[in-house]
Amino acid sequence: MPASREVALVTGASSGLGNRFAHLLAQRGWDLIVTGRRIDLLEELRRKIEQDYAVSVQVISHDLSEANSARQLFDRIQESGDQVHVLVNNAGVGHYGQSLDQPLQSIAGMVNVNVVATTELTRLFGERMKATGGGYILQNASFSGFVALPRYSIYAATKAYIVSLGLAMRYELRKSGVSITVLCPGFAATDFFDAAGHKMTGLMRLICMDPQMIAEAGIDGLFRKRPLIVPGTIYKFCALLLRVLPRYTATAFAAAIVKDRAGRA
Ligand SMILES: NC(=O)c1ccc[n+]([C@@H]2O[C@H](COP(=O)([O-])OP(=O)(O)OC[C@H]3O[C@@H](n4cnc5c(N)ncnc54)[C@H](OP(=O)(O)O)[C@@H]3O)[C@@H](O)[C@H]2O)c1
Repeated sequence: MPASREVALVTGASSGLGNRFAHLLAQRGWDLIVTGRRIDLLEELRRKIEQDYAVSVQVISHDLSEANSARQLFDRIQESGDQVHVLVNNAGVGHYGQSLDQPLQSIAGMVNVNVVATTELTRLFGERMKATGGGYILQNASFSGFVALPRYSIYAATKAYIVSLGLAMRYELRKSGVSITVLCPGFAATDFFDAAGHKMTGLMRLICMDPQMIAEAGIDGLFRKRPLIVPGTIYKFCALLLRVLPRYTATAFAAAIVKDRAGRA
């Protein structure tokens, strides 16, 4: 039997940060498995990466918003014989607006992608990595995981969960050879806000970061086995500020930053 191939799996690679993570991993020589729902964008990514780097890319069209979808993705990759040595849990979605206005179905979809699928993929691939001598897991959380954020209340809560999960599992696995890194980016100009139904405010645009810089900080920190990464000086400063500000005061500030002045929500 041929030796199994070590690969990097990037979820949500069809656009934004996931697309950048995939390029950076390819640059480092990793064969890739990339997932998402927009197959045309994933195929375009595959063509571009295979043209630019001497690696192979497998595209898997997979919706992570359904129950059991992480298990199905895991089983499919296991059957192929590939060994996921690097897992980038990047797929994520947010919905802008008052919590009471959000349909239950879209809340369930968001929680499934951001929380359930991320947890299950970490659990399943983490176990395989531990059994095979180690690996790297990058949890793409968010700066919003540090602060309760009105109009993104459910989204921010899902990201607070990922920060907690990532750090705690990292500790549990500290002697296993499996390294978990939590990435907490601030605002980045990606498809995220269109998908969220939110027009970025002026202040958001002012402190918005380049997705490439965020992805570089994430991949660099992942292979340096850093526990937690907050890219950008402004966000590092804000993270320190959050340690001393009363939590509800921070929430009121954060609400003002994301409030759509056009009057929505
Ligand atoms: N942009 C920001 O300001 C920001 C800040 C902090 C953290 N983040 C986090 O960064 C991650 C990437 O977001 P982004 O900013 O790069 O936005 P993006 O361009 O919208 O990327 C989101 C990715 O997640 C995938 N995804 C969404 N729903 C999915 C589903 N149901 N099943 C499978 N894949 C799904 C999308 O793929 P398909 O649409 O093809 O399915 C897409 O590739 C997310 O976890 C987000 O929470 C973003």
